[in-house]
Amino acid sequence: MKFNIKITKAQNSQLGQVDFDDIPFGRVFSDHMFVADYKDGEWQSPRIVPFGRFEMHPAAMVLHYGQAIFEGMKASKSHDGTPFFLRPEMHAKRLNNSARRMCMPEVPEALFLEALHTLVDLDSDWIPPQEGSALYIRPYMFATDEFIGVKPSATYRFIIFTGPVGPYYPKPVSLIADRQFARAAVQGGTGEAKVAGNYAASLLPAKLANEKGYDQVMWLDSREFKYIQEVGTMNIFFVIDGTVVTPKLDGGILPGITRDTILKLLPEHGYKVEERPIAIDELVDAYKAGKLQEVFGSGTAAVVAHVSKVAYDGFEMELPPVEERKVGPFIKAQIDGMRSGKIEDKHGWIVPVQGQAVNA
Ligand SMILES: Cc1ncc(COP(=O)(O)O)c(C=O)c1O
Repeated sequence: MKFNIKITKAQNSQLGQVDFDDIPFGRVFSDHMFVADYKDGEWQSPRIVPFGRFEMHPAAMVLHYGQAIFEGMKASKSHDGTPFFLRPEMHAKRLNNSARRMCMPEVPEALFLEALHTLVDLDSDWIPPQEGSALYIRPYMFATDEFIGVKPSATYRFIIFTGPVGPYYPKPVSLIADRQFARAAVQGGTGEAKVAGNYAASLLPAKLANEKGYDQVMWLDSREFKYIQEVGTMNIFFVIDGTVVTPKLDGGILPGITRDTILKLLPEHGYKVEERPIAIDELVDAYKAGKLQEVFGSGTAAVVAHVSKVAYDGFEMELPPVEERKVGPFIKAQIDGMRSGKIEDKHGWIVPVQGQAVNA
């Protein structure tokens, strides 16, 4: 324990009130949270406290100028009950990429990881044991200077809280691409950072897509509205004539950790994989030629979400039923299998939660 995280335990656990077989997504929170404050050029008073509200000043800079970044990750239990994370250091690195872009201080990777292990160990009873369930983990940072005027804040708060989530069995999603809105600028913007504003900007287009009867927007590039980017909170994969294709990272796309895992695993199992620009017209042509075999999204929440149809310019591309697909179900089973400990992790991605809080 390098960072001397002070632990104040909750007097009463809320765990008894939670039914692990019926967890409303995003509304149940575990007993504790990690908090650290950045002041005078360093992270101070790292602590774990009972989960609860805190006060904010009306002039807190995050509320006005939007310096806010976050991560989303999970801890699960393997079939023998061992709690673990999947590639936690990747989330620390991505948080710091986001911090740099937003002119915010980085969180030392060792502090991020120690906070994560200590917090999740303390609340490890909150990790649902059911296969497919998990403890969702939300690390985030925001500006706290009490000041009106556009400049980087000098003070920040970094928090990690967690909450159990049930298995995510989404029905296949329908997507629509159009040329009215972009998610983020392709070059020089904030698309490759996980910043709160990107999500705020996506809400209106997503609402309009819903009104047209589609689940999510499939974003096109902001420059030409030609190249496919990603979807909602997922990266996107296509299987075209036997080859798995995903858009190449171009500065506008969030580098998903699930995307990276899939790109590493598929070639090891003999799949041909390409990262390259994919024009929406290429997709339409592939569909018309009968070569578009699968479309699926990838992300921490669902691992893989199958896509049922993609609409563009008044044209609907209906994809084959999930039972007839190969790549999406295969890669989901691989990642779920590693998570449950039933498939060997050859990459050192599975990191057991270390019990640093045991003697606290
Ligand atoms: C915009 C966006 N794209 C892609 C992803 C998928 O990333 P990951 O696989 O790291 O969850 C996410 C989720 O974090 C996201 O918010």
